[in-house]
Amino acid sequence: MTTISERPAPAPATQATAAASDVPLSLALREGTREQHGQAEGMAFVENLMAGRLGREAYTDLAVQQLSIYTALEEAGHRVRAAGGDHDLVFDELTRVPAIERDLEHLLGADWRDRVHFLPATRAYTERLVACGDDVSRYAAHAYTRYLGDLSGGQVVKRMVQRHYGLPAEAVSFYDFPEIHKLKPFKDVYRERLDALPLDADQRAAVVAEAQVAFSLNQAMFAELGAVHQG
Ligand code: HEM
Repeated sequence: MTTISERPAPAPATQATAAASDVPLSLALREGTREQHGQAEGMAFVENLMAGRLGREAYTDLAVQQLSIYTALEEAGHRVRAAGGDHDLVFDELTRVPAIERDLEHLLGADWRDRVHFLPATRAYTERLVACGDDVSRYAAHAYTRYLGDLSGGQVVKRMVQRHYGLPAEAVSFYDFPEIHKLKPFKDVYRERLDALPLDADQRAAVVAEAQVAFSLNQAMFAELGAVHQG
């Protein structure tokens, strides 16, 4: 039998894991993606779009890419819920696909379905979302990255694209959440749900790593959009 004094001291990695176990997932996600968030905000496509240096077609192209991404994200949400393990993290009021479809109909016309083209980076992002299967951890990483972004900076994006490109409300409904009356308390509830997921420290670290992948996939998509739409 091993007594306490005979036990080897924990390796530094174990100590680090123990310390990380105190960090709520929502905070670990914010800290773990902070640097990439700054990089994404500073990408040429994002900056040019926000500054009014592009045109409506650039905003439309972004909406097209989002159709593919949110279709896969929301199908993952359905799978997670159907498997019975969503831990109340799948919110119907966040569903974006019908809004994107409405926006595209306004922007591209009734035959919009024949006119959408997904970029290679979008296809890679979509495949990663399909690969989430019904795993709530992987879904959480991707849902956090997109929905909390839409509820935060997305609201700024909406105002800027409306102002610069004269877009009517019917073309930017992606950024509207009519069933969510106050965004800040909703985001707080979302973070509480993330923090309540029954995950150990290693599993939480894996969620943060997957969110970093999600940010990289967004950055790759902005890079390709930036190559097509230059200010
Ligand atoms: C024009 C570009 C962007 C602007 C101006 C912007 C702005 C912001 C702001 C101000 C917040 C903080 C809101 C708060 O404290 O409640 C925020 C949070 C967030 N943004 Fe962005 N953002 C941009 C792009 C992005 C992109 C490209 C993504 C990822 C695809 C993203 C994902 C997020 C996430 C996940 C949060 C929540 C952070 C947290 O509290 O954990 N943002 N954004």
